[in-house]
Amino acid sequence: MSEKPPSYSGPSRVFSGIQPSGALHLGNYLGALKKFVALQEDHDCIYCVVDLHAITQPQDPALLADQTREIAAAFLACGLHPKNSILYAQSSVRAHTELAWYFNCVARMGWVERMTQFKDKSGKDAERASVGLFDYPVLQAADILVYKGTHVPVGEDQKQHLELSRDIADKFNRDFNAPGFFPLPEPLIEGPGARIMSLKDGTKKMSKSDPSDLSRINLIDDEETIHRKFKKARTDQHPIPVDVDGLEARPEVNNLVGIYAALAGVSKAAVLTEFEGKGFGVFKPALAELAAAHLAPITENMRRYLSDKAEIDRILQEGSERAKAIAEPVLADVRKLIGFHGA
Ligand code: TYM
Repeated sequence: MSEKPPSYSGPSRVFSGIQPSGALHLGNYLGALKKFVALQEDHDCIYCVVDLHAITQPQDPALLADQTREIAAAFLACGLHPKNSILYAQSSVRAHTELAWYFNCVARMGWVERMTQFKDKSGKDAERASVGLFDYPVLQAADILVYKGTHVPVGEDQKQHLELSRDIADKFNRDFNAPGFFPLPEPLIEGPGARIMSLKDGTKKMSKSDPSDLSRINLIDDEETIHRKFKKARTDQHPIPVDVDGLEARPEVNNLVGIYAALAGVSKAAVLTEFEGKGFGVFKPALAELAAAHLAPITENMRRYLSDKAEIDRILQEGSERAKAIAEPVLADVRKLIGFHGA
């Protein structure tokens, strides 16, 4: 991890979040959760279930709280340590929405209009998308900066949002003559897990919203389902290539090799050395076995956590109190800098 920008002299702090909308998949695990857990070994980490982001698209009020608990259970099942790291639900810390409003007045329309994820999510009928969906990345900037987060582990799809967070932080610091007040948060995106693609189309990212369940491996898929999905994953007739150049025009193969590498914690080149010249009849079952071995204990742990909702609620509540204690003084300073009466 590189150094924080020289003008910011506060402590390093990792922040990231996951939406409670739909089942988590292998992309969320390899692009985010696996990294979150590794980072907590030597960093102060704050992780958030971003339910305010989830409601930018319709959610069933009867299910939202349980969806939040499920994501919290996934964090815990993957090894998040709630005594060290902070884990909480975004809506329980009002500071996010307050700072998001101030940032709405700092961010420029042109900056937000450039966000490709809004274009993807709103589809052809952007006029009918919620204002919240458009504003989503501004709230994301507030999430990070209300804790003065310096490092943000995310998948590659979030890169543009992180650039916006940096622009907002920088403009706030300039507008209010407060150099180094907010850090310019640095994205942590490296490694083969940062961009996991659909099993059906190697040019589309693996996503919760893909109508085909065969396009993704869900965190709660059982071993047989995992084998079946990898077996049906799109590939070609050629064997596994000798080197990474040989993956270039083969997006589906590149994706499967990347998944193997991310799961095993090795480089793609190392995977190719092991499997070069072999067919998919050999590679796919090996990949499925590796994925199942990784996911089985997580699924099992998730079930265990979900059987005790009160314990999850207690962890989220405690996390929320610890998060507020960090965010409130930052907001108090922000109010002073803006110049509000009584701040
Ligand atoms: P969300 O809930 O869509 O996804 C959670 C995390 O999973 C990563 N991810 C992937 N990584 C690799 N390959 C994929 N196919 C894949 N699909 C998803 C995402 O990049 C993300 O890291 N806007 C965020 C949530 C958020 C947030 C934040 C993140 C809200 N506030 C502040 C960081 C900091 C989102 O929608 O994630």
